Amino acid sequence: MTKTRIAVFVSGGGTNLQALLDAEAAGKLSSGQIVLVISSQKDAYALTRAEKAGVPGAVCSRKELGGQAAFEAAILAKLEEYGIDMIILAGFMSILSKDFTDRYPERILNVHPALIPSFCGQGYYGLRVHEAALARGVKVTGATVHFVNEIPDGGRIILQKPVAVEDGDTPEILQRRVMEQAEWIILPQAAEMVAADIARRKEHEA
Ligand code: GAR
Repeated sequence: MTKTRIAVFVSGGGTNLQALLDAEAAGKLSSGQIVLVISSQKDAYALTRAEKAGVPGAVCSRKELGGQAAFEAAILAKLEEYGIDMIILAGFMSILSKDFTDRYPERILNVHPALIPSFCGQGYYGLRVHEAALARGVKVTGATVHFVNEIPDGGRIILQKPVAVEDGDTPEILQRRVMEQAEWIILPQAAEMVAADIARRKEHEA
């Protein structure tokens, strides 16, 4: 069976990348193969995780490349080189233009650390999402995996999982619980669902 060729985009620690690599090693991402990791930060620990798993890593920094157009052109060249069918944003902290997302309709996934439509969109990323959830006093938060289009956190929802907020939570404690109880579970599940779909379509076209 043809496998879907996956690129994972990262910017930081890469625990979600690790969850995807572990799922693949455990046979739970059997319709896809992670063949490339692209980081927007040259010192991201996620790149070390990729190296340890034997997956090639590349750095594409908007700052170093001098702007959005050059940044996206560099990414597209890498995707072409590796024959990428599907992209997973796993803690990727750069915005992609409509020009870019239109090239991969329902082929780009993102994991967001809240239950969309709460605490999402421009300015809601990383720890800030959990700070906002605690400030609002919600009792339940969670994670969402969704398709990426030109609207930040606006594409079709694939999977969601709720997580309880507990008394005494700090943003860091809540972030960790949301990762452990939701993100690291639903991201590999959604990745397999979409990869299976793309692989089926690839076989039909072949
Ligand atoms: C994760 O919590 C992810 O959901 C979030 O950043 C963290 C990255 O951690 N992403 C966003 O906020 C995107 N809007 P990781 O590098 O350990 O996977």
